Amino acid sequence: MKKYLFISGMLASSVLLYNCSGSKKATASKPPPYTYESNVKTAIEAYCTPCHIPSKGGNKKSYDNFANVKSDIDEIIRRIEMNPGDRGYMPFKKPKLADSSIAVFKKWKEDGLGEK
Ligand code: HEC
Repeated sequence: MKKYLFISGMLASSVLLYNCSGSKKATASKPPPYTYESNVKTAIEAYCTPCHIPSKGGNKKSYDNFANVKSDIDEIIRRIEMNPGDRGYMPFKKPKLADSSIAVFKKWKEDGLGEK
């Protein structure tokens, strides 16, 4: 009986070890998901200022925080994909965002809208 316990203990720990090294490999090859803090925040600060950043004097809906940006993400993507002159186009009266910047917002949504 003791021997049997020992063997099943060995089996269990080798399964654990195997899983640990397996998941390390998976994260190394797959880039981390986009998050508000690391990817989206800088884009908002660059393109949606000052109007949506209260600390910069903006008086439009504030997008200096995760909660508002997350809840409005569909509307944000819809508007930044419009062309200047379209009704609702953002950023208001400024040049259209580069495709690569629009892609940051889309990728964040695809990746599940994480904060950090
Ligand atoms: C120069 C000022 C200005 C800039 C820069 C600007 N906006 Fe706006 N934004 C406005 C104004 C004015 C409104 C209100 C009118 C409207 O809804 O079209 C607005 C409204 C919005 C709304 C609707 C909010 C609501 O109340 O439901 C969204 C979404 C939005 N902006 C997204 C953005 C995003 C994303 C950026 C940056 C890529 C941006 N805006 C940059 C002026 C600006």
